[in-house]
Amino acid sequence: MSEAASIKKITQEIGTRRTFAIISHPDAGKTTLTEKLLLYGNAIHMAGSVRARKNQRQTTSDWMKMERERGISITSTVMQFPYREHTINLLDTPGHQDFSEDTYRTLMAADCAVMVLDAAKGVEAQTRKLFEVCRQRGIPVFTFINKMDRPALDALELLDEVETVLGMTPVPMNWPIGDGDTFIGVYDRVTEDVHLYDRTVHNQTVSPETITTLDDPIIEETLSDHQFDDLHTNIALLDELATFDEESFLAGEQTIVYFGSALTNFGVQLFLDDFVKFAPPPAGYASDQGVIDPYKKDFSGFVFKIQANMNPKHRDSVAYIRIVSGKFERNMQVNHGRSGKTVRLSQPYAFFADSREIVDDAFAGDIIGLPANKIFGIGDTLSVSNGIEFSSIPRFAPEHFARLINEDITKQKQFLKGIDQLEKEGAMQIFFEADAFRRDPILAVVGVLQFEVVLARLLDEYRVKTRLDRLPHQLARWVEGPEDEIEQLPWRYGLLKTVDRDERLVALFSSPHELDYYAGKFPNITFRETV
Ligand code: G4P
Repeated sequence: MSEAASIKKITQEIGTRRTFAIISHPDAGKTTLTEKLLLYGNAIHMAGSVRARKNQRQTTSDWMKMERERGISITSTVMQFPYREHTINLLDTPGHQDFSEDTYRTLMAADCAVMVLDAAKGVEAQTRKLFEVCRQRGIPVFTFINKMDRPALDALELLDEVETVLGMTPVPMNWPIGDGDTFIGVYDRVTEDVHLYDRTVHNQTVSPETITTLDDPIIEETLSDHQFDDLHTNIALLDELATFDEESFLAGEQTIVYFGSALTNFGVQLFLDDFVKFAPPPAGYASDQGVIDPYKKDFSGFVFKIQANMNPKHRDSVAYIRIVSGKFERNMQVNHGRSGKTVRLSQPYAFFADSREIVDDAFAGDIIGLPANKIFGIGDTLSVSNGIEFSSIPRFAPEHFARLINEDITKQKQFLKGIDQLEKEGAMQIFFEADAFRRDPILAVVGVLQFEVVLARLLDEYRVKTRLDRLPHQLARWVEGPEDEIEQLPWRYGLLKTVDRDERLVALFSSPHELDYYAGKFPNITFRETV
């Protein structure tokens, strides 16, 4: 292929990529919606396979069992499927705010997000932080309001919650007609068609939706007088209040909203058709050499996730890479930014609904998995051109702390290996008490469920029984400044002196008030939230 033809092909491939993260509160229907999306992409042939995989995954280890018991998913997975000349990369996220840092890392690898809400519950307290994280990332957000076949909250109330929590203006692209037993379908605000809901469709991909108009007598016959009046009033109101503006959507100012029922496969295709229409193609990423254009021929990407022991039978560790620019080819030699070393990428995986396969090439927007080289860390840049460094992925400030005690001292080696790996994956941060005789690691986490995951994974994957000794501290700050002044801090009185892996000094404070007090008293000392 000539150089020009090859560049043209790369440009075409990149232009078809749509990469999104799916976010929801546990039980809102993320797995069910994912499954239906894959069904439309012909990536699975029977609904149930993703659920089966979820269940299977969850029973392969204790900590995965814990995921099931608590109805959360802790690990994010990646799936690629085709739809209408597009290649879609779906990134799953944990469904609990205690893992919002993990969600944020996944969002860093996505160009947009789909938020799934349960129509009966709206935005639940546990999920607020996840949605805030979504807003912080500043990418376009689609909202899918699920379970309309069940009694739902008032649709306007749902929109109001989305607006308050997300801080984005919700613009419904369709509007529900009835809910639960009276759910008839949705009114498409763009085409002015009414899509009638058929309770029998479930797992068919070519939906035999009947299309009618708002004047259809079935609507008046099914709805109560009150519902019928509300429907017409709301539609008129929406026309005045909420108009879709593509630019505002792409800027993360508007979120577009769809109503449907994933389980009964209603409204999923309407959503997916719009998704490929409005979801942005791969975006450029900020680096120390300016924004890197995805269409630039040279490959570049970054590690956004590392995960070990997904299959307990094989002690494998996978680094997930978001390709930022160009074309990736198997066996490529790339520069690893942080170490300056050259690495050959000979075993790249792509992830599909029920398998991972070695791939020969991949393009900007895609996610590939690599057997995690020891030098890989979260946020690391890989590129064929030397010297690019993508902006780092910010860490969240930990809020909970505990000493981690190894209960079986004969397993010290496995214990150290385990905490080392889990820290590398970003499952928690570790500090060690400075100047102490016993240096039990101190776990620092954003949400307390992370503690449980660490304990369960140490037991399951490294056969080490550990326990926690919770500490009363609430904040960690990296301390820099004149040594003699640092020594004057009241270390013995509640303020805990620790060091991180790189022996940098970290102070654990009991309250924000305490931090403010000492920051005022010692103006020459800097207390950094992250390093
Ligand atoms: P999650 O990944 O967000 O945690 O949610 P998941 O898809 O697992 O769905 C949670 C529950 O909600 C499941 O029921 C699922 O069948 C149900 N569900 C999902 N979408 C809809 C919908 O549109 N309408 C209705 N009525 N239910 C829906 P379950 O009883 O927990 O599991 P299962 O017995 O169905 O497997």
